[in-house]
Amino acid sequence: MPTFTRDTDIFRDEDVLREDYQPDTITAREDELAAYKTALQPVVNGAQPRNIFLYGKTGVGKTAVSRYLLKQLQQDTAEYDDVDLSVVWLNCTNLSSSYQVAVNLVNTLRSTDKQISTTGYPQQRIFNLLYDELEAIGGTILLVFDEIDHIGSNDEILYELPRARANGYLSDAKPGIIGISNDFGFRDELSPKVKDTLCEEEIHFSPYNAPELRAILNQRSEAALYDDATGSGVLSLCAATAAQDTGSARQALDLLYNAGELARGEDRVQIVEQDVHDAREKLEQSQIEHGMRELTKHGHLALVAALDLALQCETPVRVRDIFPRYRTISEDSDVDPLVRRRMHDHLADLAMLGILNRHGRNEGRSGGQYYEYEFGVDLELVIEAVGEFDAIALPKKVARSVQASSMGS
Ligand SMILES: Nc1ncnc2c1ncn2[C@@H]1O[C@H](COP(=O)(O)OP(=O)(O)O)[C@@H](O)[C@H]1O
Ligand SMILES: [Mg+2]
Repeated sequence: MPTFTRDTDIFRDEDVLREDYQPDTITAREDELAAYKTALQPVVNGAQPRNIFLYGKTGVGKTAVSRYLLKQLQQDTAEYDDVDLSVVWLNCTNLSSSYQVAVNLVNTLRSTDKQISTTGYPQQRIFNLLYDELEAIGGTILLVFDEIDHIGSNDEILYELPRARANGYLSDAKPGIIGISNDFGFRDELSPKVKDTLCEEEIHFSPYNAPELRAILNQRSEAALYDDATGSGVLSLCAATAAQDTGSARQALDLLYNAGELARGEDRVQIVEQDVHDAREKLEQSQIEHGMRELTKHGHLALVAALDLALQCETPVRVRDIFPRYRTISEDSDVDPLVRRRMHDHLADLAMLGILNRHGRNEGRSGGQYYEYEFGVDLELVIEAVGEFDAIALPKKVARSVQASSMGS
């Protein structure tokens, strides 16, 4: 018997369920597609492109719809001699400023032997290099900045690029920006001059409901799974679960994929509803673990303080009682503690991630309102995550639990 054999029961092609798979057709986004098409029409007419801004939560099809429609646009404009269209994609996930976006754009447009260093130039010099590259391409250039919210308020590039022609930096190139954001707040915090230009055309992607997710899953599972691989109710359960939680197609697809892996792991030929429930739990856990790992230093310190109190059965606990514990742990770890309000922001973040639960309480007649916090997840998960934090002086009880947990596993 070989160690590895191909499985033939559940997945026909599991790559179809992965993050980077691009579907050939888009389901359930008719209104958004229509608005997007209208906004792109000037490109077909050979006119100056409009700037377009898409926003909506993660997993609602912004990237997939853009890829699909821009591919169609490239195919359909190929037949017009006077339209010379280039589409340039830049994922801004790890880029936190206009400078970094510009440098990465220059390097995306240049051949591998002409890459520039990512630091050390004045910003205007980078913009000039960028204009040179755009002029060299010429024609209509759609610049897709996916996950653009990562640049935060450092948004000059979104102001400069749309004005580059008017300011005489470009003559052959007609750039248009398509900004895609998962964060509604980003749009509101853009500087007013950027908002005016970038948000010429705004398209909002709302969360999917259960029937829409069901349609997406139906289509995707045909290619991904064998016909008999899903037991009755499995696709509907994935759709309903994701619709109630986030409305994200990504979440629905992840549930199905993970449920399939669980069935495969047990050598079964069919995914059943229980697999979906188990997959949900597994995904939630890994999301929380990820959330805890990604916190900043002060997030870690606040978490350790809350954990210490929880281990001493003092939760739910008020912010004013967490603060002294946080301060001591910070000082023992050689970190300057934040003021109480700022520490509270970190507790609020932990609550948003579902790691803590927070309850508002009213202080009887004297009036004041205050918050209490307790853990919303299994403490074992927290202890495991805390065991991986660097350079934090753990209080005795926490340190002991970490040690016990690592011996147990
Ligand atoms: N309307 C749709 N039709 C088909 N597949 C979709 C649709 N919307 C989303 N998807 C799929 O769901 C996943 C998440 O979509 P994505 O475009 O990455 O979301 P966003 O960019 O909004 O975070 C991708 O695998 C994508 O192919
Ligand atoms: Mg996306």
